[in-house]
Amino acid sequence: MDKIRKCLFPAAGYGTRFLPVTKSMPKEMLPLVNKPLIQYGVEEAMAAGMNGMAIVTGRGKRAIEDHFDISYELEHQIAGTDKEWLLGDIRHIISECTFSYTRQIEMKGLGHAILTGETLIGEEPFAVILADDYCVTEGDGVLAQMVKLYEKYRCSIVAIEEIPREDTRKYGVIAGDLEAENLYRVREMVEKPDPAVAPSNLAIIGRYILTPDIFDILRETPPGRSGEIQITDALMTQARMGNVLAYKFQGRRFDCGSIEGFMEASNYNYTNVYKRPR
Ligand code: UTP
Repeated sequence: MDKIRKCLFPAAGYGTRFLPVTKSMPKEMLPLVNKPLIQYGVEEAMAAGMNGMAIVTGRGKRAIEDHFDISYELEHQIAGTDKEWLLGDIRHIISECTFSYTRQIEMKGLGHAILTGETLIGEEPFAVILADDYCVTEGDGVLAQMVKLYEKYRCSIVAIEEIPREDTRKYGVIAGDLEAENLYRVREMVEKPDPAVAPSNLAIIGRYILTPDIFDILRETPPGRSGEIQITDALMTQARMGNVLAYKFQGRRFDCGSIEGFMEASNYNYTNVYKRPR
């Protein structure tokens, strides 16, 4: 069984860059106009053929679970009114997908969050979306583009984009050999390198397809930079065996984990994506 059915959403981070709003509200619930970031992620996963949404949460994140559940009171209030269409997308998601949750008890990094999700994923290849990287595309969504590649190459795939050299400190950065157009076989991978030693300006963004052996590797991966278990370190173990591709995706990414990126995405969405009242 090789079809990718599940998407993991690590959503346990504190979102300190958005304090104070993230004191009692999950960063993933911040809206681009009227839809929370995580809903765009779920829609992207659905468009790529997945219907199992696995969410790694933490303390203070219950609003995510409530969002992907029916609110009977609200349904009763809104039924038959001219606002009912506003619930169309979320109703569709709830009827098509199953949601499962687990909590990351200690925030020990993205790699640790992904390992925490093992119980929801099991022994199958899966996708990962970091909902604070919001991506817009003209054709297929980013994850759908990556699933097509997975069907051909059957190995882990990370999405990358070119960044200004001075920004390498914010990202995992790869070096690799060109395998096909926009596709590299990863040779090297470094977490948040100094621009002077970064192996390239190709940065990993928040979309991954991972083969399930990543869990055993993560279990053996010692804490790296800043005491956290890094997914880049675990991926490097796969890359040494030639099993990681990096894909320069078609589309545009907004870094909604930063205030600037979030404001840019909000403005973009208000003009280009937001569905206005009919
Ligand atoms: P970030 O590095 O953006 O951290 O995590 P953060 O806590 O969300 O935000 P800031 O930096 O404090 O503002 C990248 C992604 O990894 C998840 C986050 O939820 C986010 O989606 N993450 C990170 C976890 O789920 N657990 C962790 O221990 C760390």
